[in-house]
Amino acid sequence: MVYFRIPKTWELPESTVTNQSAFWNRRQVLKTLFGASLLPLIGCAQEDTEHPPQLAGAHIVDLSAARNPAFAQVDRPTTNRAVAASYNNFYEFGGTKSIWQNAQALPLENWKVEVTGLVNKPRTYDVDTLKREFPLEERIYRFRCVEAWSMVLPWIGFPMNALIQAVEPTAQAKYVQFMSYYDTKVTPGPLLTGLLRPLPWPYTEGLRIEEMANELAFFALGIYGQTLPKQHGAPIRAVLPWKYGFKGAKSIVKIEFTDQQPATYWNTLVPAEYDFEANVNPRQPHPRWSQATERFIGAQSQLTWERKETLLFNGYAEYVARLYA
Ligand code: MTE
Repeated sequence: MVYFRIPKTWELPESTVTNQSAFWNRRQVLKTLFGASLLPLIGCAQEDTEHPPQLAGAHIVDLSAARNPAFAQVDRPTTNRAVAASYNNFYEFGGTKSIWQNAQALPLENWKVEVTGLVNKPRTYDVDTLKREFPLEERIYRFRCVEAWSMVLPWIGFPMNALIQAVEPTAQAKYVQFMSYYDTKVTPGPLLTGLLRPLPWPYTEGLRIEEMANELAFFALGIYGQTLPKQHGAPIRAVLPWKYGFKGAKSIVKIEFTDQQPATYWNTLVPAEYDFEANVNPRQPHPRWSQATERFIGAQSQLTWERKETLLFNGYAEYVARLYA
């Protein structure tokens, strides 16, 4: 299936928002590495393009949580909610930023998160149990994509360290892997043909245990005072504000503690471009573009951006620099 769309009045074409090299980066890489011929990703012909993104529905309910005063504000305005919910990366549902409609196919009923591997207390949680057992809080975090765009987002969730306390990783556990939902019947992936080898689904990401235990590391179940819209990775996703956005696996179904560094999606696909650590670093350019600045998407209800200097560890050095001394 080829998705054609006309930009909505309140957004700009993706190609004008993202600089050309970043816009094509991952698609180009997939083509180069996998011998894929790309189908057109932009165009026209979708009828109802004037609707704002899906911000209502049975799965989107209020999720109140007190704001953690330590993370109550940053030096930039919070990104407009509708813009954040219509400019997403969720490759399971396709390779464009306009993925919110496709992502509505994600089935959230009876969602389970299996916590397994090198832990004393393995456990499978449903979403209600997560909400009941882990006190929720709100945190305003900077968010920096490796493609050099950024946002400020108000997440609701709980620190990853609380899960560590609950399941008790063993002394052998050195890493953790997060695995996203994947079902070929529901998640078609990007529009590529002629792949020489399959894409490394399901989407996985990982951390060292010390990174997971850092106070910034967060599981989000909500955003903007409500449960997560599907395109943001409902019902639970990882949020790691000092790392590039691709580290934050969406729609997590499994969390596994291991003694070996786990395979991760983008690192498996293109190790030379997406390293396991993936800390935001303005001095370390991506092989094909600079990371010195970013295009910040702020409070405006139209998709607009402002050029900002990128900060080391995305501005969170005081919390995490010691992990990388
Ligand atoms: N998680 C899954 N499962 N699939 C994805 O394609 N994309 C990542 C990350 N998590 C991705 C994912 C990337 S590249 C980014 S920048 C963020 O999600 C985007 O999050 P957002 O769409 O909520 O802003």
